[in-house]
Amino acid sequence: MPINEIPVITIDGPSASGKGTIAQLVAKKLGFHYLDSGALYRLVALKTIHSHIDIQNHDILAEITKNLDVRFSDDVIYLDGKVVTDEIRTEECGILASQLATYSQIREALKKRQREFCSRPGLVTDGRDMGSVIFPNAVLKVFLTASAEIRAQRRYKQLIEKGMNANIANLLHDIEKRDERDSNRTIAPLQQGADTRLLDTSSLTISQAQDAILSWYNEICAKNSCLTRK
Ligand code: CDP
Repeated sequence: MPINEIPVITIDGPSASGKGTIAQLVAKKLGFHYLDSGALYRLVALKTIHSHIDIQNHDILAEITKNLDVRFSDDVIYLDGKVVTDEIRTEECGILASQLATYSQIREALKKRQREFCSRPGLVTDGRDMGSVIFPNAVLKVFLTASAEIRAQRRYKQLIEKGMNANIANLLHDIEKRDERDSNRTIAPLQQGADTRLLDTSSLTISQAQDAILSWYNEICAKNSCLTRK
């Protein structure tokens, strides 16, 4: 890696694989910035719901996406100046985000915005296409996954902890549908690239998954003296 490049770690994977939690922990440990790209798609979905827009009108959706007024401040997410951290986590928002994410104009509009998160000392980002499309030169690309049943259980726990209603069978159904849509879409489909390391977390704790990624990163640092080991 050239010495003046900013190190980027991408963690892509299916819905509820734990990539957000793990990416955040890795970013914290390394003192890097963090980008939750899925949150951007969820924010577009929430804006669409709030504005009662016809989701078939791709031109208006692209305009809205370009002008989206969002702010990430620590763990708080703002849309149009209002806190929407929990509101974007509903299943309704997730399902709509996954539909809107199949629209090329929306993906294109979010590209530049996502790349702007890359600044010193480095970036950890999670999503579906971070390694394949947005940051193809990332120093470490991880594909994080777990079985659909385990992911449904994790999502259930997460929603219940937030005081939201949840039903395991419905969540499993939603996860399977979303996997299918995310993997089979023609534009930026969810798939493990040849240059990406697979990490199946079905039987790993959060801390074990975090350690696996950090040790891969340290291995890469050892081979590239320009990167700082942590
Ligand atoms: O939490 P979950 O993994 O279900 O979803 P998310 O990461 O919050 O992303 C919501 C939706 O946005 C996903 O179902 C994807 O369809 C889409 N997405 C995408 O297409 N590309 C990304 N880089 C991130 C999310």
